[in-house]
Amino acid sequence: MTQYDFDQVVDRKGTFSLKWENIALALPTASDDCLPLWVADMDFPCAEPIIKALHERVDRLIFGYSVQSHPSYYAAVTGWFQRRFNWQIDHDDIFFSPGVVPAIGFLLEALSEVGDGIIIQPPVYYPFAKKISEYGRTIVTNPLIYQDGRYTIDFADLEDKLSQPSNKGMILCSPHNPAGRVWTKEELWQIASLSEKYQKWIISDEIHCDIIRCNQTHIPLEKVYPQYKEHIFTCTAPSKTFNLAGLQLSNIIIHDAQVKDYWFHNVINKVGLSSPNAFAIVAAIAAYNEGEEWLEAVKRYLDDNVRYVEEFVQNNLPKIKVVPCEGTYLMWLDFSAYGLQADELEKMMQKKAKVALDEGYIFGEQGAGFERINIACPRSILMDCMMRIKNALSNV
Ligand SMILES: Cc1ncc(COP(=O)(O)O)c(C=O)c1O
Repeated sequence: MTQYDFDQVVDRKGTFSLKWENIALALPTASDDCLPLWVADMDFPCAEPIIKALHERVDRLIFGYSVQSHPSYYAAVTGWFQRRFNWQIDHDDIFFSPGVVPAIGFLLEALSEVGDGIIIQPPVYYPFAKKISEYGRTIVTNPLIYQDGRYTIDFADLEDKLSQPSNKGMILCSPHNPAGRVWTKEELWQIASLSEKYQKWIISDEIHCDIIRCNQTHIPLEKVYPQYKEHIFTCTAPSKTFNLAGLQLSNIIIHDAQVKDYWFHNVINKVGLSSPNAFAIVAAIAAYNEGEEWLEAVKRYLDDNVRYVEEFVQNNLPKIKVVPCEGTYLMWLDFSAYGLQADELEKMMQKKAKVALDEGYIFGEQGAGFERINIACPRSILMDCMMRIKNALSNV
């Protein structure tokens, strides 16, 4: 078995990294001297088979237009979901998008009209709300219930929202970023059955499906409720799983014939998104075919990072509540006991602690008073971050 050294600190400066070099692009009040644990990519080197495949591709010297619609690509993608989730995907149902976020925009356009209500479950990944607004749809919230330090779904409210004719569907985040939930079979079943009852569609963003704690199980929504799969649109990608976000490739699973038609006419022909990055194709094939051992090792390291943060907070910062992180590598910490306004907390992190985190309020008003910490980094960086936070809060 290969030994992996996730403690190794890799210098990302000088690589055009959004996280390490261009912080102020997304976090205008933060500065480049902040320790960055914000945007969701990992500070770990990629799996060796991916690096090897990319080297070999470079050695082929020519980087012309490329297509992924090749049996070896589909076999890698479908093989992964079959092995890992016992989910059989027909390769005719796999559609390319450079990212999940643009795909959500395309799906919104295909599935709804300007003004229609789209349900989201805040605090949630903020581009959901942004995409709904950018496409002229109406944001409808079904806030998660935060009780005893854990998040659950308010099903009575969800049913109310789904029952309203002006609301056309929902965007589900599964696993949930930033609430850290890996939804249970029962929860997923209830979401799908309510959607069926009111004939509403679901965009199920499952980009974090592979990065969950070792004792957790992710179930694709479609697997829980196959009888309704024409109305479920699942967004998957190797980007979070294998740290390939910069290569820009995701796989969107569409069964519905009309939406497929929309995709051919609008996304592929009109927008011209037919040709993925030449490197992304070989990286994805190597990742899905040969990346499993690396992924399992990363998951174990992340489990230890989660434990480290939990213990650090318990021993040093007991006023903070750590929300259980069942899935994703993004931890969600509740600072509300400090009684700071959201902007004061932000200032405390960026100006005093000198850490760049994702502020809770950007995930919706329900997130005010929280911080999201990206723990996919060597332990030494995480320790530095936690010490900085401890020192900054020492007199508060
Ligand atoms: C839930 C969720 N969806 C989508 C994305 C990003 O997707 P992409 O980079 O493929 O657009 C992220 C990144 O953090 C995410 O957390």
